[in-house]
Amino acid sequence: MSKALEGVRILDFTHVQSGPTCTQLLAWFGADVIKVERAGEGDATRGQLRDIPGVDSLYFTMLNHNKRSITLDTKKPRGKKVLDSLIKTCDVLVENFAPGALDRMGITWAHIQELNPRMIVASVKGFGPGKYEHCKVYENVAQCAGGAASTTGFEDGPPVVTGAQIGDSGTGLHLALGIVAALYQRNSTGRGQQVLAPMQDAVLNLCRVKMRDQQRLERTGTMHEYPQYPDGKFGDAVPRAGNASGGGQPGSILKCKGWETDPNAYIYFITQGAVWPAVCKVIGEEGWIDDEAYATPAARLLHLKPIFARIEQWTMTKTKFEAMDILNQYDIPCGPILSMKEIAADPSLRETGTIVEVDHPTRGKYLTVGNPIKMSDSPTEVTRSPLLGEHTDEVLMQLGYTASDVAALRADGVI
Ligand code: COA
Repeated sequence: MSKALEGVRILDFTHVQSGPTCTQLLAWFGADVIKVERAGEGDATRGQLRDIPGVDSLYFTMLNHNKRSITLDTKKPRGKKVLDSLIKTCDVLVENFAPGALDRMGITWAHIQELNPRMIVASVKGFGPGKYEHCKVYENVAQCAGGAASTTGFEDGPPVVTGAQIGDSGTGLHLALGIVAALYQRNSTGRGQQVLAPMQDAVLNLCRVKMRDQQRLERTGTMHEYPQYPDGKFGDAVPRAGNASGGGQPGSILKCKGWETDPNAYIYFITQGAVWPAVCKVIGEEGWIDDEAYATPAARLLHLKPIFARIEQWTMTKTKFEAMDILNQYDIPCGPILSMKEIAADPSLRETGTIVEVDHPTRGKYLTVGNPIKMSDSPTEVTRSPLLGEHTDEVLMQLGYTASDVAALRADGVI
């Protein structure tokens, strides 16, 4: 079966997490992704957080599936020539170097345009133009600068970063969309363009609802779905909301049976307005259905703490899975707090290819997260990440280099 991005060639100049997540997605959609790595060491993540000595780390393997790898010293004149040949024959160059690094290599936008006016140049940077544009940025810096940390955590605690890599993987996703849109536009204009996804902006985009709340707060001085209401005080910026549900349907994380010893024996429980009578029946508080202190969503917002405390008395008598089974019979929206161990063993996620077992020549079998986007005409087969420089000879020969050219480049440490 064909693939959505078949025929698209990507010069993948990415490293660490944000860029590699983007190019991995493009590879899963069928693009030929050629990862260019520094001769000798390669992407730094190959050696980071290693669990097996001398073997590519899971950090690397889980972000670089379905790619080819070549090593190239792009700072040597002959290395730059190879890079120029790649620029001429690829459709997209993706990079996430520190600001200015590509220009310092001599790979300016003008140079690329001269070689290949159809090329799309896509970049992740920490910040867009402005006072921080020259800064190097990692995941948690972006979470802090994009508004996620100041709005995450409990009201009486410090800012908190989330385990979801919204700064790195989140920005990679944004960039992938920009690239696909630019490829589509090129069909009519014939021209490439520059695509930029700053990590601060991508995190802010994911925190859009908190910017909504900032303006609500400034207008009204309060927000009824926040735990600060009705007893606490609001300041002049959006506060941390703990585990309160962000939308109009109040929710909370509640203890389940076994919480004393199992750190994940919890359930997320949403008291959706439509199922309020069912919630009352399940927890044995039928009297609340018509009690005017509880009967309407607005009235309930004044009593969320005692309401969730009462529901928790019920959830603590059930395991999270028993509670799920019962609540689902009544269409009450809820979700178990799943550990990574539980998710890794989930049969449905295995069935759909979202969790995949991959074989690797030096590591052996390992689990990875496959393509979360499912397309009926472009199925994803997850293949292992490349060894460092595994495809150098193959790619150079496709570019027209002979075996003796390749040997000479290798002897000079260019590849
Ligand atoms: N051949 C020769 N030199 C190479 C090369 C190659 N194949 N690949 C990279 N290099 C060089 C670069 O040109 C750069 O040289 P320079 O400093 O002389 O210009 C150097 O390697 C280091 O690159 P840099 O990007 O600065 O790496 P770093 O390890 O110092 O910084 C980041 C890492 C992630 C902080 C930085 O790349 C960054 O801020 N990127 C943008 C934001 C981002 O993506 N962050 C999230 C990462 S998950």
